[in-house]
Amino acid sequence: MNTLLDRPAPAAAAALTLRRGAARVLLDNWTGTSTVPSRTLYPHQWSWDSAFIAIGLRHLSARRAQQELESLLAAQWADGRVPHIVFNDAVPADAYFPSPDFWRSSRSGATAGAPANRETSGIVQPPVHALAAWLVHSADPAESRRRGFLSRVHPRLVGWHDYLLTRRDLGGDGLVSVVHPWEPGMDNSPTWDRALARVEPTPPDTFRRADLDHGQPADRPTDLDYGRYVRLATDYRDAGYDDRAAEHRFAVEDPAFNALLVVSELALAEITRELGLPGEPHRERADRLTRHLVDTLWDAGAGIFRVRDLGDRSLVDERSITGLVPLIIPGLPPEIVRRLSRALHGPHFTSPATRLVPSYDLTGHAFAPHRYWRGPAWFNTAWLIERGLRTHGLHGDAARLRQGFLADAGRTGFAEYLDPLSGEARGARHFSWTAALTLDLLCADDADPKEPRP
Ligand code: SER
Repeated sequence: MNTLLDRPAPAAAAALTLRRGAARVLLDNWTGTSTVPSRTLYPHQWSWDSAFIAIGLRHLSARRAQQELESLLAAQWADGRVPHIVFNDAVPADAYFPSPDFWRSSRSGATAGAPANRETSGIVQPPVHALAAWLVHSADPAESRRRGFLSRVHPRLVGWHDYLLTRRDLGGDGLVSVVHPWEPGMDNSPTWDRALARVEPTPPDTFRRADLDHGQPADRPTDLDYGRYVRLATDYRDAGYDDRAAEHRFAVEDPAFNALLVVSELALAEITRELGLPGEPHRERADRLTRHLVDTLWDAGAGIFRVRDLGDRSLVDERSITGLVPLIIPGLPPEIVRRLSRALHGPHFTSPATRLVPSYDLTGHAFAPHRYWRGPAWFNTAWLIERGLRTHGLHGDAARLRQGFLADAGRTGFAEYLDPLSGEARGARHFSWTAALTLDLLCADDADPKEPRP
């Protein structure tokens, strides 16, 4: 029983209510060209948010989902990077910090190829975009072909991946590094603490956080964290966002970021093949990346992937959701799939109040149930894990996670994240990727292990 109408009447009615609620969020958060993650906390366009949003939007309008991705990719820099924020110049400057006049992309990033006519940030976020583009295409291939969607986005996606694989292989071992805790999208995860401790924070009285106007301080990163975020972004900006010139004081290899690049390379192989070009080079890249990921970041003793701190080239002894996300890679060795599945069921990641997976080890020394990425359970990572479980044929676990996701999304008004101990909604509500991924999971087809079907 997969489609809304195949379900028994009460379940079908509940699913329709959920679908309507999710669609409402996406309509309310649509700006005319893209979707804000949240009208209050995040009033511009965010990179990996837009990819997840497009994955859900395709079930409402394939055309709008295409537009979501294309509006983001239109702000790509000439060096290939896709910025993590594309600013909407109609939004007041003080609505979000750091604002365009902090990043100064069109001036400070000019040599690196920042667009002259759009303001963006200068850092990146996880590469979910090729996966999203392929899923958007698959939702309505005729409309996609008619509009030439894939032929327009293909060169941009290739440039984006090339940027990551060339300019960001800072460890020289074939993996991509992130140079700011905002880049892996898990801002204040305890896995960054050790590398961040080396960064001299910018004094708190030199900037004004806008996030605290909308979010609870207890749900958000601390001022000390923000001081370090600001210092790293300032230094990168002052080096012209040039990865060869910048002295990155924070550089880590993140398992989820690299795993998402693997699945996006596989999606790019499909996109390339659909355009009548050979997809093999992208599949080979995906295989190579998978090997490097396993060789470098897999901790066989702990049964989880670890973050590697390039400061001393050692693995960080923390368990985070980022170490489980590689489950999404189809070519993962079966023994690793088995160990990750065991980790998901073990004491570190089994929450008493939600089937979503907590962002950090429930038994870890830094666990904090409310504070952003230091414990709370997020919907986008649950979607990635659900997809990974299905990819490896673990359909019972996937179905349970999917049901838990849909129940929590509806119950919390599409919250940004949850306290994994109480199940209470935290962060923003009416959150776009929660709504979008709800739409996607409502359409997920148990009969097909790989593809959610529209
Ligand atoms: N996630 C960061 C924020 O909270 C930046 O992308 O603003």
